[in-house]
Amino acid sequence: MYSIPGAVQVAAPAAAATAVLPAAATASSARTVAEVLAESHVEAVLDELDRDLIGLAPVKARIRDIAALLVIDKLRAGLGLASQSPSLHMCFSGNPGTGKTTVALRMAEILHRLGYVRKGHVVSVTRDDLVGQYIGHTAPKTKEVLKKAMGGVLFIDEAYYLYRPENERDYGQEAIEILMQVMENQRDDLVVILAGYKDRMDTFFKSNPGMSSRIAHHIDFPDYAGDELMGIADRMLTAVSYRFNAEAEEAFKQYLALRLQQPHFANARSVRNALDRARLRQASRLFAERDRVLTREDLTTITAVDILASRLFHPKTDEEASS
Ligand SMILES: Nc1ncnc2c1ncn2[C@@H]1O[C@H](COP(=O)(O)OP(=O)(O)OP(=O)(O)O)[C@@H](O)[C@H]1O
Ligand SMILES: [Mg+2]
Repeated sequence: MYSIPGAVQVAAPAAAATAVLPAAATASSARTVAEVLAESHVEAVLDELDRDLIGLAPVKARIRDIAALLVIDKLRAGLGLASQSPSLHMCFSGNPGTGKTTVALRMAEILHRLGYVRKGHVVSVTRDDLVGQYIGHTAPKTKEVLKKAMGGVLFIDEAYYLYRPENERDYGQEAIEILMQVMENQRDDLVVILAGYKDRMDTFFKSNPGMSSRIAHHIDFPDYAGDELMGIADRMLTAVSYRFNAEAEEAFKQYLALRLQQPHFANARSVRNALDRARLRQASRLFAERDRVLTREDLTTITAVDILASRLFHPKTDEEASS
């Protein structure tokens, strides 16, 4: 869209190992926002984010804001204006299945294209990958993970489990200290994204002000509304060449309404799981029809019975039948 015919493709940005300025400031002759966007192909990632992910309007807006900040930072660096590697560590808070991991992958791609991380990969970890069981085990573990993540994004899921104040000799604190040091000193080569439930994240930051002060961007991931969940379901089915017929669509709406009232509802993740089960039932249904020629229509369509067979619609009868 902003591509300039004949423009040189910017390959993976070179690391500014010895330079004072971050990778973002590596040679670029771009002088307009459009030129930076064309050079970096960032617009494509932003458009994909808009297109592929249903809802998440506030998240998408924040990601665009961050991208804008980085593009302007690049233009400033191009003119030799005071430039300090911007703090890019983030916190993604929200309930399970709200798209945090998915957005982290896109964020890494944006950071990479704009030259803020060398490789743009995401290393996803939880407490157990960082914290050891015995004295002396935590530092090497955490450092090993940091080494793997260098040049990319370190995504720490349920980051608050690193901090266990009830256990006086918990090694999580040691991991936090090491992380904080690297987040400060190597922020031109590593972006850390902490993720988890909002309330627990807030508590974690209250007890760890040092960590809190290193996080520049807090992004909240809202729960999806019913119509958004339906949109996500359609998107997921289309991606694997399935579709609901009209009755199945109606049945799935009812399914979601019931599922929302159950414990452990996990937004898009629950939708994905429900669709996986519906596909299993569709397969069993077709499998039983040994001699019928199965058309493309048969093979791609999820029907209402595939949904309505869910335990959610008859919790009692199932139990009674089996007991
Ligand atoms: N807005 C969306 N549009 C389409 N698909 C989505 C959307 N959000 C999430 N998904 C899909 O739902 C699934 C769960 O999303 P993801 O793993 O990113 O959520 P999460 O917040 O990291 O969840 P968890 O807390 O369980 O790790 C993925 O398969 C993802 O592709
Ligand atoms: Mg996740």
